[in-house]
Amino acid sequence: MSVITVKSEHQYDVVIGNDWLSELTSSISKYDRIAFFYSESQAEHIPKLSIENEMHYFPLPDGESAKSAQTLAQMWDWMGAAGFTRSDLVVAIGGGTVTDAAGFLSATWLRGIDWIAIPTTLAGMVDASVGGKTGINSEYGKNLIGSFHSPRKVIIDSKWLKTLSNRDVAAGLAEVIKTGFIGDQSILDLIQNFDLDRDRNNYDLLNQLIERSVAVKSAVVSSDFKESFGREVLNYGHTLGHAVERHSKYALRHGEAVSIGLVFAAHLSQIHCGLDEQIVQQHISLLEKVGLPTTYERAALPQLQALMSVDKKSRGNTLRFVGISGVGKTQRIEGLSSDEVAHAYEKIAK
Ligand SMILES: NC(=O)c1ccc[n+]([C@@H]2O[C@H](COP(=O)([O-])OP(=O)(O)OC[C@H]3O[C@@H](n4cnc5c(N)ncnc54)[C@H](O)[C@@H]3O)[C@@H](O)[C@H]2O)c1
Repeated sequence: MSVITVKSEHQYDVVIGNDWLSELTSSISKYDRIAFFYSESQAEHIPKLSIENEMHYFPLPDGESAKSAQTLAQMWDWMGAAGFTRSDLVVAIGGGTVTDAAGFLSATWLRGIDWIAIPTTLAGMVDASVGGKTGINSEYGKNLIGSFHSPRKVIIDSKWLKTLSNRDVAAGLAEVIKTGFIGDQSILDLIQNFDLDRDRNNYDLLNQLIERSVAVKSAVVSSDFKESFGREVLNYGHTLGHAVERHSKYALRHGEAVSIGLVFAAHLSQIHCGLDEQIVQQHISLLEKVGLPTTYERAALPQLQALMSVDKKSRGNTLRFVGISGVGKTQRIEGLSSDEVAHAYEKIAK
């Protein structure tokens, strides 16, 4: 078992590799009651718990539907009807959609009550549950409504991954690989020898990958909790990735879109930050090794450019990319013309 401490509006531990139920049981004695949120599609994997605290269960609709304003309204009503107070606890067991929605509920209920995240997808373990961002979607875009509200603890038990599809494991690995390029060469070395079919239930190896990825994210968010450039490095591959995700109408998983965005960011980095060709090729080979896409439709470029500028406007910043000049050496790339973007895009176009 390993523990990584994150410093944010409060300090909390990310516990990796322990049995989630025993870790949870030992963390909740001070709370009167517990509100469990989980995805209804995962219900069969959530055991009925015999814990001393009074427990209430709320199944959420699967996927992004958990992050709708309608679902949140139902969650607030349910909390109100059951009379949840500040001495109670929210526990979110699920993928990033569940931890985002239940985390946002915790941020807003009584202006903020304690919550614990138990991520059950790789993307949730290495990304969504760590860093304190919680939120839901609006009709106008993903994650537009939200709040920083860190959990009291994150409990990561990689045995959850046993039932996760290869596609979702690979999507989570996109964020792991991203983390390697922005902050830890040893992650890339581990992925170099990783075989998805052979290693998907190798919990020692998965725990090492998770631990190193969480360590990078934790160091970044601990030094810059609320998004100035420090935190922005986590967006490596995401500027184009978000646009691809939207362009695909969410047919691509977030991690798949980020994979394409990472290869694009690597090419941009080669042109504008002097990144070695060999590291650009390493992006492609590691991502393809775990079955992730690395190219996208040539004809989509005008729409992707439009989507990136809408995203830029709605978030009130200039269009900028995160680049790297070497592994772990991040820098901003700003002020590109659309021709310069097109030039790098041509390298990933098919
Ligand atoms: N807050 C943040 O900092 C942050 C960071 C990254 C992503 N996110 C958010 O996370 C969400 C994506 O998270 P995700 O990729 O985990 O998606 P998800 O929560 O939709 O889960 C993917 C699918 O896997 C299923 N699933 C979950 N656990 C499983 C298990 N153990 N076995 C089998 N199936 C399982 C789910 O039911 C779902 O169908 C997005 O909404 C994204 O915006 C948030």
